[in-house]
Amino acid sequence: MAKSIPSAFSPLVSRSGTHKRTAGEEQWFGKFSQKTKLIHLKFPSGYGVRARAISSTADVRAVEIPRQWYNLVADLPIKPPPALHPKTLQPIKHEDLSPLFPDELIMQEVSNDQFIDIPPEVIDIYRLWRPTPLIRAKRLEKLLDTPAKIYYKYEGVSPAGSHKPNTAVPQVWYNAQQGIKNVATETGAGQWGSSLAFACSLFGLNCEVWQVRASYDQKPYRKLMMQTWGAKVHPSPSSITEAGRKILQMDPSSPGSLGIAISEAVEVAVTNADTKYCLGSVLNHVLLHQTVIGEECIKQMEAIGETPDVIIGCTGGGSNFAGLAFPFIREKLNGKINPVIRAVEPAACPSLTKGVYTYDYGDTAGMTPLMKMHTLGHDFIPDPIHAGGLRYHGMAPLISHVYELGFMEALSIPQTECFEGAIKFARSEGLIPAPEPTHAIAATIREACHCRETGEEKVILMAMCGHGHFDLPAYEKYLQGKMVDLSFEDEKMHASLAKVPQIA
Ligand SMILES: Cc1ncc(COP(=O)(O)O)c(C=O)c1O
Repeated sequence: MAKSIPSAFSPLVSRSGTHKRTAGEEQWFGKFSQKTKLIHLKFPSGYGVRARAISSTADVRAVEIPRQWYNLVADLPIKPPPALHPKTLQPIKHEDLSPLFPDELIMQEVSNDQFIDIPPEVIDIYRLWRPTPLIRAKRLEKLLDTPAKIYYKYEGVSPAGSHKPNTAVPQVWYNAQQGIKNVATETGAGQWGSSLAFACSLFGLNCEVWQVRASYDQKPYRKLMMQTWGAKVHPSPSSITEAGRKILQMDPSSPGSLGIAISEAVEVAVTNADTKYCLGSVLNHVLLHQTVIGEECIKQMEAIGETPDVIIGCTGGGSNFAGLAFPFIREKLNGKINPVIRAVEPAACPSLTKGVYTYDYGDTAGMTPLMKMHTLGHDFIPDPIHAGGLRYHGMAPLISHVYELGFMEALSIPQTECFEGAIKFARSEGLIPAPEPTHAIAATIREACHCRETGEEKVILMAMCGHGHFDLPAYEKYLQGKMVDLSFEDEKMHASLAKVPQIA
C-alpha cells in the first residue's frame, strides 16, 4: 500500500522533478511505515595565505591548509560497532543511506582509509577563513594567576562564525556533484543552519532548515542570516511534517530539540527524491571533515615548539571536539605525545557522563539507523539551556567508542559557571564566545586554577569553536543575574531510556 502523503508536504512536492517515494521504496527510515595581527605570506604554490601572530612575543609562522582529512577509525585497535538497519537489525548498507546522502559521503561514513583527499574546490573555499588562528590566552593566564599556558584554536573567523562551515562546504559540494538541488537540515543554535545556508549559496542549492523552537525564538538574527544566504527556515516542531505534528499534539508549546528537528528534516528528505539530508554533527563523515582543525593545529603547535598536556573541547554531537582532538589522538596512539583529552558537556544534557552506551535512534521519531552511542534516550528533551547546540540526546558513535576505549575523559558543567568563565574570557581576551564553547572555557579555567594550586606548567589547548555575537540575550540574562542552572532529572532520563530499542 502506498504511504499516505501528508498534505502539508505539498509545497515540497510541487518542486520540479519531485518524486514521492512509495511504500515499496521505503527503507530503514521507516516510521512512515514509512591575537593578533594579520600578516600575508606567499607560499611556493603562488597563493597568499593569512597567518596570524600566535602572541605578541611568539614566533610568527604560517601553516598550509591541510590537503587531507584524517579518519581516526583507521588507527583504532578495535573498530567501532556498525550502524544498524532499524528493521532488520543488520549493518546498514550503502543503498539504505542513499535516500539521505550522496554516494561520496556514504563512502566516507563507512571508510577505513586513514586519510581522505579534500577536493581542491573545497580547499579553495576553506581559504576564505583557513588556516584559523591558534592564540595564546596570555591575559587570561594572568587573570587566573596560573603557571599553565592556555592556547585556543579559534574557529569563529569563518563566515558563519563557527567550525560548522568546515563540513557544510564539502557536504554541499558532494551533493552538487551528484546533481542534487535541495537539501534539508535541522539546526540547534542556528550555527549549523547558517553554515549550510552559506554553503548552499556558494553552490546554488536550495536549503530548508528546521530550527529548534527555543533557539528560533531566542536567536532571530541567526534566522535572518540563514534567510540572507537564501534558506527557508521553519521553527521545529512544525506542522509541516508528520513528526512535528505528533510532537505538537502532545505539547503545543514544545521548546523542540535537536532530535525532533532531525526527524523533521529527515522526513522531508526521505519523502522527496530530489532532496537530500545534511547533518551538522554526530556522523563519521562530519567528524572527518572537522579534522582540518586538529591537523592545522598540530602544525601550528609544532611551529612554536609546544606540546599540549590537556586538550579540552565542548561536545554537543561531538564534531568540534573530534575535529581538534582526533589528529592528536593519532599522535597519542603513535606514542609521540600523551595529552589528556577532555570533553565537556552541559550538566542539563550529559550524554557521555550520564547516558547509557547502547544502540539508539539519532532522532526523536525513530527514523534514522540505530547507532551505538551514549544516549539519554531518543525522546529525551533537554531543558532549554542557552547552549542550544549542545542539546542533543546522544553523542557521536565514534566519540562514544573512543570514550569506551579509554582514550578520552568527560565531565559536565552547569551553565552559570560556563558564563562566569565566558565573562572572564571576554574581559581578558576580548572574544565573546558562543554559549557552547563557554563549557570548554569553564573546564579550562578549572584546569588552570588546579595548576595554580599544584604549580604545574601545563600546556592547555582549548577548542574555541565559535563567537557569540548572535547569542547576546544569553549574556544579558547572565549579566542581569537571571540565568539559572537547570537541574538534570535522572527520572526523566530513565523514562526515556525505557523506550530505547533492546538490541541483544
Ligand atoms: C558554536 C557551536 N559549538 C558547538 C556546537 C556543538 O556541536 P558539536 O559538538 O558537533 O561541535 C554547536 C552546535 O550547534 C555550535 O553551534
